[in-house]
This record gives sequence, C-alpha cells and structure tokens, in this order.
Amino acid sequence: MVKKRILTGDRPTGRLHLGHYIGSLQNRVKMQKDYDTFIIIADVQALTTNWDNPDKLAHDVREVAKDNLAAGIDPENATLFVQSMVPSIAELTVFYSMFVSVNVLRHNPTIKTEAAQHGFTDMTYGFLGYPVSQAADITFCKAHLVPIGKDNVPHVELTRKIVRRFNQLYGEVLVEPEMAVQETLVGLDGNAKMSKSLDNAIYLTDSPEEVARKIRVAITDPARIYKDYPGHPEVCTVFTYHQQFSGEFVSELEPACRRGVIGCVECKKRLTDCINALLDPIRERRAFYDAHPDIVDDILQAGTAKAIEVGAETLAQVKDAMKISYFDKQGAPNVECILS
Ligand code: TRP
Repeated sequence: MVKKRILTGDRPTGRLHLGHYIGSLQNRVKMQKDYDTFIIIADVQALTTNWDNPDKLAHDVREVAKDNLAAGIDPENATLFVQSMVPSIAELTVFYSMFVSVNVLRHNPTIKTEAAQHGFTDMTYGFLGYPVSQAADITFCKAHLVPIGKDNVPHVELTRKIVRRFNQLYGEVLVEPEMAVQETLVGLDGNAKMSKSLDNAIYLTDSPEEVARKIRVAITDPARIYKDYPGHPEVCTVFTYHQQFSGEFVSELEPACRRGVIGCVECKKRLTDCINALLDPIRERRAFYDAHPDIVDDILQAGTAKAIEVGAETLAQVKDAMKISYFDKQGAPNVECILS
C-alpha cells in the first residue's frame, strides 16, 4: 500500500521548545511510521526576518535538525531536508506568484500579525510573499496532509486555492492538501502561547535544573495565597501542563488542588519530574547528535537529495502543463552537482 504523504516543518529561528513538542514534534514522531513524512527546515522563510544574520541561520538549521532527531524523528522513516537547497521550491514559487494577488497577501491575518510584531512599516517582497513560497513547500512533493499550528491555517488555505487554480488552468497536476491543526501550549507566564520571543518557554535542551527553576516561577492560580486555600485548576498554567505531561496523575491532582490538600510547591515538583522524565531520552539522543555533527549533516544531505529528486519530478510536470518545457527533459537538475 502506498503511504500518504505529510509535509510539515519549522522555521529555523532557534531551539525548539515544549510548545513545538506538544504542537507538532510529538505528533510527527507518531505519524512517521504510517505516513511518508517530509520535514522541511524552512531556512528561506526564516530569511524573511533574518536576512541580516547569516551565521545565526546556518547554526539554527542544525539546531532544528538536532531537535527533530532528538525528539525521535527517525531518518529511516522521515525525510528531513533544507528548503533553500531544493531548487524546485524556488521555481514553483515564481510560477505560483503569477496568480496570487498582492491584496490577498496583504490581508493574510498571519502576515499582518507578524508584520506588526516585527514593526514593519513597509514589507519586503520576500516577506509579503512567503505564503506563496510555503505553497511551493507543500506542493513540490505533492503532500496530502499538512500538520500545522493555528497561525499557519491561512497559508494552507492559500495553498489549497493555488492548487485549485493551477489544476483548473493547466490540468490536474498538483495535489490539494488537507490540514491537521494542532494544539498550542500556553507559556510559563500564562500567555496564550509558549514562544521564544515572549521568553516563556521550556526548551528541549534545558537541563533538569533549568526546567525546575522555570517551573518554580511559573504562574499559578493568583487567588491561592496560602497552601491550604482551595485552588482553581481551570485558571492555573501549571495545571494545564499537568494535563499534557503528567498522565494519570491529573485525575488525582485536580480534586486535591480544589480541596487545598496539595500545595503549589508540591504540585510544581511533580510537574518538574514528569517533564524531566519526558525530556531525559530526548536529552540523551541530543547529546549523541551534538557529539556527531557529521551524522546530522549526512542525514540532512540524504534527505535533501531525496527532496530534490521528488521536486524535480513535480516541476517537470508543472512545466509540461504550463507548456514551458521547451526542450524535452533538458535542464533537469543534477542532484550530485547541487549537493557538492
Ligand atoms: N510557517 C511555518 C512556521 O510556522 C514553517 C513552514 C514553512 C511550514 N513551510 C511549511 C509548515 C510548510 C508547514 C508546511 O514556522
């Protein structure tokens, strides 16, 4: 049976945290056996806001690769690759950009939010257009399913529109992807989202002591001044984490908190233990890859070589459909040459 294909991934803008784990990595690791999984390290998309810091970008590409591998991505099961090295993605972006209007991009709610966050008074062409490039990320390998966070929904909706328009204009070549919208994890400060820029995250690479320290100062129920006051788990960030990380203990914890028989200090200790138990095997795999950077690079190169090949095939079909394949089979990219 042919497996359905998933395309998902991250912008390399730093280390990944528990929000990424709950929102995507955990699911990715689970799905890699049942789906043909492609994981993009979207360095071109990261360039839209980091073009002026090339050293950081090169470093972050490896960080994200190692975080994926440490979380349990198995290169035998999944194709981990670097966006900028796959020429068909860039070429498809150009073709798709012919039928996406500037106004549609300007009204994309995620573009608007991010532009405001970055304080852009004007937007670069690359930034405004990155959702078009994301459509190329998804379609170059004809993905059937795209697991994403809420903020990426407008981009996948645009992808679906582009695919429909393309297929209508030129013939059925592209696959219209479904999306799977994943959970977001609240931040340690109670903010709706765990995120690096809000400085409210626990990283997969944090030491057990760092995890303990961060949880010690995490926001709890503000009405609970004394240990034996009744707690309100529904407003407590730490309780939200217990729901994600503590398994069965939650059913014991909730009534105990409400009755004021377990205090926040004890509750936080239990959470720290659960999160550290989750992170321990991840830390162990991470240490292996930190000690073997060549293996990481080999995995990225092998994954990228596969992505280049798959993309070249789609691109050839796209060009055929658009009647711009003038000289039969010529000009196909040579993987060896691109990777050397
Ligand atoms: N936009 C995604 C993010 O939030 C990263 C990304 C780039 C992506 N291309 C993708 C996600 C394709 C899913 C599919 O960082």
